[in-house]
Amino acid sequence: MTKSFPDGFRWGVSTSSYQIEGGAKNDGRGATIWDTYCATPGRVANGDNGSIACDHYHRWAEDLDLIKNLGAKHYRFSVMWPRVLPEGTGRVNEAGIDFYSRLIDGMLERGIEPWLCLYHWDLPQALQDRGGWTNRDIVDWFGDYTELLASRLGDRVKSWVTFNEPNVVAWVGHEEGRHAPGIADPRAAMRTAHHLNLCHARATKIIKGHFPEAPVGFVLPMHKGYTLPERREQDAHLIDLFEAKWNGVFLDPVYYGRYPELILDRMEPHIRDGDLEAIKTKVDFQGLNQYFPSYIEAASDKAWPFKHAEPPKYFRRTEMGWAIDGDCFYRTMKILQNDYGNPPVFVTENGGAFIDLPDANGKIDDQDRIAYYDEYLSAVLRATKEGANVQGYMPWSLLDNFEWAYGYEKRFGLVHVDYTTQKRTPKASYDFMRNVIKSNALP
Ligand code: NOJ
Repeated sequence: MTKSFPDGFRWGVSTSSYQIEGGAKNDGRGATIWDTYCATPGRVANGDNGSIACDHYHRWAEDLDLIKNLGAKHYRFSVMWPRVLPEGTGRVNEAGIDFYSRLIDGMLERGIEPWLCLYHWDLPQALQDRGGWTNRDIVDWFGDYTELLASRLGDRVKSWVTFNEPNVVAWVGHEEGRHAPGIADPRAAMRTAHHLNLCHARATKIIKGHFPEAPVGFVLPMHKGYTLPERREQDAHLIDLFEAKWNGVFLDPVYYGRYPELILDRMEPHIRDGDLEAIKTKVDFQGLNQYFPSYIEAASDKAWPFKHAEPPKYFRRTEMGWAIDGDCFYRTMKILQNDYGNPPVFVTENGGAFIDLPDANGKIDDQDRIAYYDEYLSAVLRATKEGANVQGYMPWSLLDNFEWAYGYEKRFGLVHVDYTTQKRTPKASYDFMRNVIKSNALP
């Protein structure tokens, strides 16, 4: 079997602002909800926070060189909202705009296309104090923020991502409370989900108003649901509801102008006349993240009749405890092909956390990560051979970084970061990926 990716397949890499930038006190950046969350005892492993992270705020040029040497031509990064608008609205922090302006110029100088993500979870704390995502005014706040970036940076941005993982913002941040702002309220989560969809549409309109040809999309980690083999009969009926919650709530209104029938009663209290028409937007590409298959089982949870189940033992797992299943990834790409009109898909994140510390010679031979990428990239090949419109791939992530509630314990990078010295060391997986990119094929 030939292992070449389609001609013109686009290779990139992904990061996010709070996870790598640091520079928390530099040049007038405002506070984000993750600063607050990290400062709350018990929320983040080891009491870690993103104040310094990978110090990318000062080392960005070196990091762009690493991207260039990898051969990646596309870079998805995110802007930290309170770095450019410290209070979330109103006063612009020019130093923040300058930082992203230099960063984007640095990409262009190196032949790397900027993919600007507007929101990768670092909401200004000042807006959280006014209700954050649960306050419908956020549609205007997010609109003003988008307008600022489109007018000040947009001439050099090639592709736009409105949201990274809106389902995680809604369900993990507002229902489970395991991410900032740490709210555990199903109703607040539903309202958040609807507001995120409205914001996606508003931002798309604003960007298109400036740059009608610029590709705009959002990034969803689609969850494919599975029952435990021994509970197939009891639990099979839960899969549709599970997938409606994680995927349909965000895909269906944008693609089809409606919420999935199965969750309509839960969303209805938050919908106003004209909302669904407004949310239906042409998607230029679908950003797809995936890490693991989602096993569920019946539960008498207050909000939903299912809960997370431990996947069968036969799966290998990453350091996150996540099951490794390239076949699930293949099936997810087929869902986009068959149920959503086969949009252009960019895999905007995929990767594994593994323990991979430098050996005595300072080398990091992360064969587990290489095997992970080989399995997931094989799934991309299989899906594209069957007509799925997958056009590009960005591994997660360039650097080891702040892994949210897990702090710095989990390492996802192609490049190792020593957090004491900030020394970057490319791992064996970096060389593996460079060869894949260079040959546009799996070895
Ligand atoms: C998805 C998120 O977008 C990213 O921020 C996170 O680090 C990875 N998943 C790994 O958990």
